[in-house]
Amino acid sequence: MKSLINLLLLILYITTTTTTIVASSKPFVEKTNGDDLKTFEQIVMGYGYPCESHYVTTQDGYILQLFRIPYGQSGDTHTTRQPVLLQHGLLDSSFTWIVNLPGQSLAYILADQGYDVWMGNNRGNTYSTNHTTLSPESAQFWDFSFDEMGRYDLPATMEYVVQSTGYKTLPYIGHSEGTIQAWISYLSNSSVVDWAPLFIGLGPVGNVSNIQNNGLKYMAIHNIDTDLAKMGMLRFLPSPTLLRSLFVDFCLGCDECCAGVIEALCGPHRGAFNDSRMSVVAGHEPGGTSLKNMQHWAQGVREKQFQAFDYGSSSANILHYNDPAPPVYDVRNFPSSVKVALFSGGMDELADPIDVSDLVKQLPSSSLLVWKIIPNYAHLDYVWAIDANTVIYQDVVQLIQKYF
Ligand SMILES: *[C@@H]1O[C@H](CO)[C@@H](O)[C@H](O)[C@H]1NC(C)=O
Ligand SMILES: *[C@@H]1O[C@H](CO)[C@@H](O)[C@H](O)[C@H]1NC(C)=O
Ligand SMILES: *[C@@H]1O[C@H](CO)[C@@H](O)[C@H](O)[C@H]1NC(C)=O
Ligand SMILES: *[C@@H]1O[C@H](CO)[C@@H](O)[C@H](O)[C@H]1NC(C)=O
Repeated sequence: MKSLINLLLLILYITTTTTTIVASSKPFVEKTNGDDLKTFEQIVMGYGYPCESHYVTTQDGYILQLFRIPYGQSGDTHTTRQPVLLQHGLLDSSFTWIVNLPGQSLAYILADQGYDVWMGNNRGNTYSTNHTTLSPESAQFWDFSFDEMGRYDLPATMEYVVQSTGYKTLPYIGHSEGTIQAWISYLSNSSVVDWAPLFIGLGPVGNVSNIQNNGLKYMAIHNIDTDLAKMGMLRFLPSPTLLRSLFVDFCLGCDECCAGVIEALCGPHRGAFNDSRMSVVAGHEPGGTSLKNMQHWAQGVREKQFQAFDYGSSSANILHYNDPAPPVYDVRNFPSSVKVALFSGGMDELADPIDVSDLVKQLPSSSLLVWKIIPNYAHLDYVWAIDANTVIYQDVVQLIQKYF
């Protein structure tokens, strides 16, 4: 009963924080060039870029889909191109890197600058719901959190890009959970240290102790994640296809309502969104994840530690870790040979400014190249704001040009 009430409260929270009903009589298809109904590849190719889809299998059998934009709008003008890897955040997918128009979204900008752009998808999102032996209907399939994304997904993705392109190294760019998993990858896999000597983090997250008042904190303090697990939920935002079709319908009448669930969990945006693109967002977001991953995030808020999944009791943790407490991911041990550039937002409710500042203090000083704070940016603005091209991406391109 309590869990149902909390679930209703969460839904109420999501709707009240995100719904400003603005009736729009224009059909959305006209406004967006039909992007809302297109697939990832169709959107990219619609703007005159080539787009490839690749599959990589992790060491524990998950089959991940990667998208690649091998060159820019001006054609195949370079003989070889430095690959760059982009990795999305919580509940998101590679779609995040093409949400806006050429000249605005990072994937297009990098492709037009002469880079070979690869975009990963973590296990369990819309594009990566397959496994060599486990059925996506099974509980075992959904038994993962960002820990496995760090230990398996990112290393496998990097290895694939390095091997396919023949380049030994690449710049890695992660947003939100794409930074959490990167700390874990760098701390656990020495090949990652060699493959990605430059790590650019947008809205970097580790310890989320000071997370502000958003849906994730709400979920954590009311133990909604634990209640949902007890109810047997495996997948968070259970059926992306169903949800997406509801979302697109919802967006027919209301441009501003659509980024709903993601905004509710990540905090509302403060930068400039293109409201006319929100039905495109609705057609492709949220990417979905496992409930266990949401539990892991919520544990970070409750337990104020950046650590492996807590199985809830000393005995259960001993079974998994041979230790009564989950191991801490200690960013003080981050490899000092890797250069880190961080971009954080003054209004970010998820990568809270205090937590980011603590994170920066813990990194080896020889690692940190740049830490830029964008005062009016919140958690989605790094990828979705239409001015991110000037506020962040110019710096990103310059960093890559300098180090590669
Ligand atoms: C906003 O998106 C619409 C639809 O894709 C596009 O036509 C328009 O040019 C975009 N506006 C800006 C300011 O980028
Ligand atoms: C899942 O992967 C297997 C093995 O590669 C493949 O045969 C199958 O078609 C894939 N299923 C889906 C739904 O993509
Ligand atoms: C690092 O990741 C690669 C790719 O998944 C894997 O082959 C390798 O065994 C991993 N190394 C370590 C030390 O875990
Ligand atoms: C996380 O932050 C909390 C509160 O600021 C602090 O007590 C804890 O030691 C931090 N943990 C790590 C691993 O930095």
